[in-house]
Amino acid sequence: MTLKLTDLPRVMLGADGPLIGAQGLGCMGMSEFYGATDAVEARATLERALELGVNLFDTADMYGTGANEQFLAPFVRAHREKIVIATKFGYTRTPQTPDDWSVDNRPQYIRAAVEHSLKRLNVEVIDLYYMHRRNPEVPIEDSVGAMADLVAAGKVRWLGLCEVSAEELRAAHAVSPISVLQSEWSLFSRQVEGPILSAARELNIAIVPYAPLGRGLLAGKDATANLAADDARRNFPRFQGDNQQANAQLVTQLEQLARSRHITVAQLALAWIYHQARRWEVPAVPIPGTRRRSRLEENLHASTIVLSEAEMALLDDVAASVKGVAV
Ligand SMILES: NC(=O)c1ccc[n+]([C@@H]2O[C@H](COP(=O)([O-])OP(=O)(O)OC[C@H]3O[C@@H](n4cnc5c(N)ncnc54)[C@H](OP(=O)(O)O)[C@@H]3O)[C@@H](O)[C@H]2O)c1
Repeated sequence: MTLKLTDLPRVMLGADGPLIGAQGLGCMGMSEFYGATDAVEARATLERALELGVNLFDTADMYGTGANEQFLAPFVRAHREKIVIATKFGYTRTPQTPDDWSVDNRPQYIRAAVEHSLKRLNVEVIDLYYMHRRNPEVPIEDSVGAMADLVAAGKVRWLGLCEVSAEELRAAHAVSPISVLQSEWSLFSRQVEGPILSAARELNIAIVPYAPLGRGLLAGKDATANLAADDARRNFPRFQGDNQQANAQLVTQLEQLARSRHITVAQLALAWIYHQARRWEVPAVPIPGTRRRSRLEENLHASTIVLSEAEMALLDDVAASVKGVAV
């Protein structure tokens, strides 16, 4: 299939957020966690994504402890007006303390973190700035108040939160408009379905499902068959022992359904998200992560795949049997 540049639908993020291609690109794996990266191919993947209508590029200050923002900087600079660059603050790990996974949401921390991200990305303004994780010791009103000050100061355009509850989303949105909620959402991770999605729909907050391919698990058995020794997924319960074997059997079932439709299992998993978002009546822009042009193009086709109610029901059944927590 040849993807036409006009194929990717556009989605508005929040009440006054940017207009985004209906699939974004997760860039985390280009710098850390999923084994070695071919930087030339990764950079070519960024360029190809933009050509095909992707304009949301997702990073965080902690990916590669800053290296991912730096890797993206020349690409962002080369196409500044066409790109919506999204980054995140919260995890305090640095190149000197890569194993420190503490979370800081204090206003003074946020004010310092944004300056570091602006510098590493080499931009005047960050388009979408997320709180990566909550530290419940800091009132969310204080953190979002500090984030709103960054908007007022012209350092940030739109605000997002990751992995918050419905109550936190409401409390935050009462302080300043939240355009996007980024949470894990895939066939194998459906915790967001329920009060959180209901709150997002009511408040007109768009959803950016992260790890929509279950960190590669939903991209087919071959995708995660030979993980490198330092691949972070070796530590995740779904990729270990009995869980891994049981989940591989589920993926075999998904592969059979995909084959019957002449699509790939990654496309099936992404098409499921688009359908499920329509069921919940929330705008959704999944951000599958890939470092390869071929996989990017494969994943983008998912936005046009139509699944029947019977296929959705079958997928629901298979997904209900997933073993192990995601991380
Ligand atoms: N907010 C948060 O807390 C949070 C947490 C995790 C991730 N994220 C964001 O979400 C993005 C996506 O999540 P993720 O990368 O963890 O997981 P994912 O998108 O579910 O899966 C990525 C994995 O699937 C592989 N893959 C992608 N497309 C494929 C295809 N068509 N066929 C076979 N394999 C394929 C990738 O390998 P290759 O790269 O080798 O293609 C990579 O190993 C990240 O990049 C990051 O920006 C956010």
